[in-house]
Amino acid sequence: MASALVAESVTKTYTSGKLETRVLQGMSLRLAERELTLILGPSGSGKSTLLAILSGLLKPDSGNVSALGEDLWKKSRADLEKFRLEHTGFVFQGFNLFPALTALEQVMLPLDYLGLPKHAVRNQALASLEEVGLASRAHLRPMELSGGEKQRIAIARALAKKPQFLFADEPTSALDSENGKKVIDALHRVARVYGATVVCVSHDTRLAVDSDRIIEMMDGRILSDVVQNGAQGATA
Ligand SMILES: Nc1ncnc2c1ncn2[C@@H]1O[C@H](COP(=O)(O)OP(=O)(O)OP(=O)(O)O)[C@@H](O)[C@H]1O
Ligand SMILES: [Mg+2]
Repeated sequence: MASALVAESVTKTYTSGKLETRVLQGMSLRLAERELTLILGPSGSGKSTLLAILSGLLKPDSGNVSALGEDLWKKSRADLEKFRLEHTGFVFQGFNLFPALTALEQVMLPLDYLGLPKHAVRNQALASLEEVGLASRAHLRPMELSGGEKQRIAIARALAKKPQFLFADEPTSALDSENGKKVIDALHRVARVYGATVVCVSHDTRLAVDSDRIIEMMDGRILSDVVQNGAQGATA
C-alpha cells in the first residue's frame, strides 16, 4: 500500500538554557491511508514531539516530512497553514472544548473556518456527531457531558472536515476502558470510512488490540513496528 505520510531521518533536539534534550534521533516512518497506527512509548520518549512534526505543527531540525507526496517544510508558511486547515485534524490531549459552546457548535467551528455554506456546516457537523454516536447530545455543553463524551466531541470536531490525516495525542488518557474503547473505535472508523491516515499516540497498551499497526518508541527511536488485523502497512 502506498504511503500517505512519510518521515525520513527526522531529528529534534530541544534547547533550554544550557540543557539540550535530544528527543528524536533520526526517525523514519511510512504510514498508510485507511489505517490506524498506534504509537506507544513511555513518558518523555518523544511521542508528542513526533506527532507535532508529522502534522506540520513543529519543524524538525533535520530530515523531511511529506504528506500526499508534498514536502511539508518546503511549503511557504501560508501554504502549510492551508494544507493543515484543509487536510488535517488534531485531537489534543484534554479535550480542548469551549465551555460556552454546545457540542454541535464546537464541531461546526472548523467547518466555518473552511468557509463552507451555513447549511453544509450544520449538516456536516451533525453527521460527524452521528459518526461518534453523539447526535443525541448535540445541544449539550461540555459541563453536561461525561469525559468520554467530551473526548468523542473533540474527535467529531477533528473529523468533521473529513481530513486525510487525523492525529490524536493521548485521546483516551482520562477515560476508563469502556470509553477508551469507544474513542479508539471512532478513530478506527475514520480510517475505514473516510480512508484517512490516523495516528494515535498513547501510553495505554490496551489500545493495541484495536489498532492496525503498533509502533513502539523508546528514547526517540523505533523499538518495534507490528502490522496486524490484516492491515497492509505502508511499503512505498
Ligand atoms: N518545548 C520543549 N522544550 C524543551 N524540552 C521539551 C519541550 N517539549 C518536550 N520537551 C522534552 O522532550 C522530551 C520528549 O517530550 P514529548 O512531549 O515528546 O514526550 P512524550 O513521549 O509525548 O511524553 P508523555 O507521554 O509524557 O506525553 C521530554 O524529555 C520533554 O521534557
Ligand atoms: Mg506527550
